[in-house]
Amino acid sequence: MVDTVGIIGAGQMGNGIAHVCAVAGMDVVLSDITMDQAAAGLSVIRKNMERQVGKGLLSAADMDAALAHITLADTLAAHKKCDLVIEAATENEKIKTSIFKELCPHLKPSAMVASNTSSISITRLAASTDRPERFMGVHFMNPVPIMKLVELIRGIATSDETFERFNIFTKRLKKETAVSEDFPAFIVNRILMPMINESIYTLYEGVGSVDCIDKAMRLGANHPMGPLQLADFIGLDTCLSIMQMLYEGLADTKYRPCPLLVKYVEAGWLGKKTGRGFYDYRVEGAPKPTR
Ligand SMILES: NC(=O)c1ccc[n+]([C@@H]2O[C@H](COP(=O)([O-])OP(=O)(O)OC[C@H]3O[C@@H](n4cnc5c(N)ncnc54)[C@H](O)[C@@H]3O)[C@@H](O)[C@H]2O)c1
Repeated sequence: MVDTVGIIGAGQMGNGIAHVCAVAGMDVVLSDITMDQAAAGLSVIRKNMERQVGKGLLSAADMDAALAHITLADTLAAHKKCDLVIEAATENEKIKTSIFKELCPHLKPSAMVASNTSSISITRLAASTDRPERFMGVHFMNPVPIMKLVELIRGIATSDETFERFNIFTKRLKKETAVSEDFPAFIVNRILMPMINESIYTLYEGVGSVDCIDKAMRLGANHPMGPLQLADFIGLDTCLSIMQMLYEGLADTKYRPCPLLVKYVEAGWLGKKTGRGFYDYRVEGAPKPTR
């Protein structure tokens, strides 16, 4: 039974995972590089819970109880009492493997470890830990409190018992699961990300404007959100990392990241989280297309 969950990275995914674990009654240790970043994650959690209370999805008492379950930290040693630690740091293999190397010596021998990576090999990440049999990919969707799905990915060494324990854990969070083999970007992003990349090529080649591409896919394909808006929402750095992983991992030119995506990331225009991507969110009123 998982009583205490550690979450590394308090960004949009880490704070969402902390949110659902705390609402499910688990104790949560939420860490980031600095206390300020961890605190910023907690303030997003509070805002999102208040929104749920406003919609009648959560009672005010349950919100207070959930918030009381969350402790903040700026060290990996803070996860020493956790039964399970989920890494949700930046989508960069070097960052993730160095976190696992530093984290593992602090953990209980029985503790399980997981990564929320969108695209990196679970088997490779597991090999950077001292417990590949207790390691899994648990890929939550954004925004975590709203999206129903979690992809479960076993590495080559993941034990049946670990897989079963993660199934129980995700059920406690009231999530549905889809099992994916350990291939670059798993199922959702193997399909979604090439579509987003193609929408950026469509913009890059001048086939349509930001407005027209998003409107075309919303009204013409019945997508709830246009692909460029969705890319901004995911984070353009994350989108680029996933495309690079598909391109290199599958060695197929059809996954070549669009140069315009590279340019936006180089400019630091990473989407909603930095205030500007394919749309500018810093303006009054509706976000303004940047091209
Ligand atoms: N954005 C999405 O839609 C989405 C969906 C599913 C999965 N993911 C995956 O979740 C992970 C996090 O993505 P995100 O969108 O939350 O990114 P984000 O940029 O919002 O947050 C990343 C956080 O990790 C922290 N961090 C970086 N290095 C760290 C370290 N060494 N120790 C502790 N914290 C560190 C950063 O300070 C930041 O707060 C990535 O692996 C991404 O691929 C993202």
